[in-house]
Amino acid sequence: MGESEKIAKLGAGGISVDLPVMEGSVGPKVIDIRKLYGATDMFTYDPGFTSTASCESKITYIDGDEGVLLYRGYPIEELARHSDFEEVCYLLLYGELPNKTDREKFVRGITYHTMVHEQLREFFRGFRRDAHPMAIMCGVVGALSAFYHDSTDINDPHQRMVATHRLVAKMPTIAAMAYKYSTGQPFVYPRNDLSYAENFLHMMFAVPAEHYKIDPIMSRAMDRIFTLHADHEQNASTSTVRLAGSSGANPFACIAAGIACLWGPAHGGANEAVLLMLQEIGSKDRVAEYVKKAKNKDDNFRLMGFGHRVYKNYDPRAKVMQETCHEVLAALGKQDDPLLELAVELERIALEDDYFVEKKLYPNVDFYSGIILRAMGFPTSMFTVLFAVARTVGWVAQWNEMIEDPMQKIGRPRQLYTGAVRRSYVAMDKRN
Ligand code: ACO
Repeated sequence: MGESEKIAKLGAGGISVDLPVMEGSVGPKVIDIRKLYGATDMFTYDPGFTSTASCESKITYIDGDEGVLLYRGYPIEELARHSDFEEVCYLLLYGELPNKTDREKFVRGITYHTMVHEQLREFFRGFRRDAHPMAIMCGVVGALSAFYHDSTDINDPHQRMVATHRLVAKMPTIAAMAYKYSTGQPFVYPRNDLSYAENFLHMMFAVPAEHYKIDPIMSRAMDRIFTLHADHEQNASTSTVRLAGSSGANPFACIAAGIACLWGPAHGGANEAVLLMLQEIGSKDRVAEYVKKAKNKDDNFRLMGFGHRVYKNYDPRAKVMQETCHEVLAALGKQDDPLLELAVELERIALEDDYFVEKKLYPNVDFYSGIILRAMGFPTSMFTVLFAVARTVGWVAQWNEMIEDPMQKIGRPRQLYTGAVRRSYVAMDKRN
């Protein structure tokens, strides 16, 4: 960067201020506005943080215009094709792909923590059987801080590492318990001889009365879904985890906050919403009617699974997901699934439609994942839970990075106040 590019000049209210420009390893430069308020008595206004970098990070990079997603520099497509989730977890947490010894040690460290405190079983029983599993996840994950007191000191690197391993290891166990509880089946204990994805499928679908055989195509698909969702830089739930963590809250409480944020239909709830939408559309000949509805300004209906805050091109994860979807349905003999047919038609029409083309609304990762998960036997209410299982490693990687960042401060945005100015209290008998 040349000397003249290192400074941004801002003139406001008769004051001129020089602001430093910072440059990352790739991606847009950023203007450092930390001194702006002191120099000008003005804040910046950026609802939804569309132009604001909230932190410095070395974990994940997205180029939304080009449709690129890198974990620690590695393209997501390569990781999804050649790696597995355990390796991706190591990469996100420690910055490099593990060698054989590191990998074995890491997997041992994770599997050591897959069981949950036996008393947590009683905790589940406090929920109604028909509770949404995300409601159970928020409660039970938050409650981990009441069970694992020896890993809540955020200033101790060893305790942080133990909390990190515990969260990554226990999340599938808790998720599967939430599902089993809703069906009335007994909880299934984790099996440490299985891979992360296999163990999750086993805890979800095995019953004590029969042997459960894990289909390698299903466990590969599960592994890919976990890999594709593992991190996505400063999205809403990750920013929530960072913001909660910035006050010094313990990691279990911070991840519970992330889960709450992920639950919303504009974020992690989208694949559930896609499936409900496809079921509502019902048949191929009604696709055009729904595309029209999505374009109508007076109708707040949106095509679920389309559009993304950052990707203004094809979401690279959606391509891998589309491939996996065809693979899974072929393996299960469900190629003729009417919902898949409907999804393909919807994608075709939307990609040709001027409205979607002009607004750069492409299918996102959630568009196909719901169809795969349904074919694999997951109920719709579990879709966001699977997303939370996968994203936990990203959340804890980002949380650790934040704690170790010397620039870290408590998150405290400012506001543009437009409410009443100071006025005197009005007694009850004088009010209108
Ligand atoms: N269907 C119809 N119109 C849409 C859609 C959609 N899915 N998405 C955006 N638009 C339109 C908006 O109405 C808006 O139109 P306008 O400029 O005429 O007002 C324009 O496109 C831009 O939309 P914004 O909401 O401003 O874009 P933003 O970046 O804030 O939103 C979001 C991104 C929330 C993902 C949005 O595209 C959406 O609601 N999509 C459907 C939900 C979904 O699939 N979410 C999953 C996200 S991926 C993830 O979390 C893993």
